[in-house]
Amino acid sequence: MSQNIESVLHEQRVFEPPVAFSRSARMQAADLERLRREAREDPLGYWARLAREHIHWQKPFTRVLDDSAAPNYRWFTDGELNVSVNCLDLHLTERADKTAIIFEGEAGDVRKLTYGQLHAEVSRCANSLRALGIEPGDRVVIYMPLVPEAVVAMQACARIGAVHSVVFGGFSALSLKDRIEDAGARCVITADGGWRGGQIVELKAATDKALADGCHSVEHVIVLRRSGQAISMQEGRDHWWHDIVATQASVCEPVWVNAEHPLFLLYTSGSTGRPKGIQHSSAGYFLNAKLTSQWVFDLRDDDVFWCTADVGWITGHSYVAYGPLAAGATLVLYEGAPTYPDGGRFWRVCAAHGVSIFYTAPTAIRALMKLGDEIPAAYDLSKIRLLGSVGEPINPEAWMWYHRVIGGGRCPIVDTWWQTETGAIMIAPIPGVTATKPGSCTQALPGIEAEIVDDEGRPVMAADAGGYLVIRRPWPSMLRTIWGDNARYIETYWSKFQNRYYVAGDSAHRDADGYFWIMGRIDDVLNVAGHRLGTMEIESALVAHPRVAEAAVVGRPHEIKGESVFAYVVCKGQRPSESELATLKIELRAWVGEQLGAIAKPDELRIVENLPKTRSGKIMRRLLRAIARGESITQDVSTLENPAILEQLRGG
Ligand code: PRX
Repeated sequence: MSQNIESVLHEQRVFEPPVAFSRSARMQAADLERLRREAREDPLGYWARLAREHIHWQKPFTRVLDDSAAPNYRWFTDGELNVSVNCLDLHLTERADKTAIIFEGEAGDVRKLTYGQLHAEVSRCANSLRALGIEPGDRVVIYMPLVPEAVVAMQACARIGAVHSVVFGGFSALSLKDRIEDAGARCVITADGGWRGGQIVELKAATDKALADGCHSVEHVIVLRRSGQAISMQEGRDHWWHDIVATQASVCEPVWVNAEHPLFLLYTSGSTGRPKGIQHSSAGYFLNAKLTSQWVFDLRDDDVFWCTADVGWITGHSYVAYGPLAAGATLVLYEGAPTYPDGGRFWRVCAAHGVSIFYTAPTAIRALMKLGDEIPAAYDLSKIRLLGSVGEPINPEAWMWYHRVIGGGRCPIVDTWWQTETGAIMIAPIPGVTATKPGSCTQALPGIEAEIVDDEGRPVMAADAGGYLVIRRPWPSMLRTIWGDNARYIETYWSKFQNRYYVAGDSAHRDADGYFWIMGRIDDVLNVAGHRLGTMEIESALVAHPRVAEAAVVGRPHEIKGESVFAYVVCKGQRPSESELATLKIELRAWVGEQLGAIAKPDELRIVENLPKTRSGKIMRRLLRAIARGESITQDVSTLENPAILEQLRGG
């Protein structure tokens, strides 16, 4: 931990919320104060009131929190609802003709769906799933490009009580297979292909590959025609979306599910090999997704909200597929790469569709910042009134650029800290109220009791002293468990402090104003371009290669991606000759891409004879990290079994 603590920067700038923004903000200082007080004085009464006001219950709940099996908490346990009804049907009286989704494909094709049309499409998709025999509780894997049908498929699952598990389209066939098998999915919804960077991402081919050896639970595959290239369809198993969905009725009786019924699984990397199927509930998840959409993004009826995340990540769940729809917003969906065909694409989309709230990741901001101020200056970004950031700490330089160049100096920036596991934003400014500081996610939202504790679980009081970021009380949208592995749920998130706090896995500190500054992960998880990658996962992928005996993966700071993947590899048998080395490195990178997906490919690969180990056989990761970062080695290397390898590890 001490290493992290030292790396803290001291940012002094403070930005008060712009007066013009504050004046018409949904939440005013007095409102926030009232919520905080209510949450403090009666936490359960507070969540119960919000759940009554913000959720349409088919059967109202009488019990707020069941903690009898803590830390497996359950919320609003005897209530019944349907999330899709809450996102869509409730808007049909007032917003049936309001645009729900503005879609832009990478090739420039634009399609708009009103709430009425979205509701009809979701109903048709839900009916087709039902026609295939999908029952409440069945798992449906969604492996799609970022097109409206991806949101439709998610909402359709919610409508019939099926549990979706979205797998990011950039993941490989093998990753898809692992996730399908872990979830025991009965159905996969995919597309022939999607567009990314001018190339077709071959989703159906990857699905076929995943299903070719294994995935015996899958009975049906629904295929959306998107890219139009030739694909193979397996008779009886594979169905075209336009055949099976389009022909269904546009109304679909929802299935009322229990509040705790799983809405979805979403796999995320952990510090050990296998990805974890994070399981979310229906009511609790929905409640926080909706509230935070309104509180943090100040969503109003005339806003055009663009969260650039793919639905393959949690951000694309809470702030694309659920939260903004629950709030009745108009959202933008863009299929492709941020810099295709040029670095102005994001700003062109903002200008073309009148985006007023823009939410993206620091890695994208840094990449676009590098291209210079002239590119965004060429577009009319005057409609933007609020900016958001998520996924990793935003460095003050990128924050200032975002503020000045994209926000024209007039927009608040909401730096939102949260995780796949938390379901919704936890620590973030309220844009009309909270003064912001570049690089800080500011304060916990009302009802969220975030704290920093030391190794013994004692609150860290001193300003600027670092520690573990924990959440002291359960909250409605918290993960319920890890699918099929409750022991791992308890071990990963609770056991460190004897089940007293939820342990986020991040280190953080608070400054004299009580603002939170996130410093990074404390486990072996990398944050590459805002995406979580477990070092173990990449290591297991590497050692699965016939030439690899051992591998160690560490992160190294990267100017644009935040962190990059640095791999040390020991080969089986003889050390490859100089001429073999280059080809082997290329092969290993491609191999990891195939095993896990392109985002996991090592940026740097060093082939060495040995890994540094202590005499007890533990890989000295801290040493490897220091070497990867080109830092001088301060730690004791006297326990190193083979001190001579240091030179080789350094690339000498
Ligand atoms: O380390 C924190 C970082 O991203 C992790 C969660 O990753 P994931 O589950 O993939 O969800 C990302 C999108 C919610 C956290 O443990 N992180 C996320 N947001 C921030 C952040 N670090 C600093 N500041 C943030 N705003």
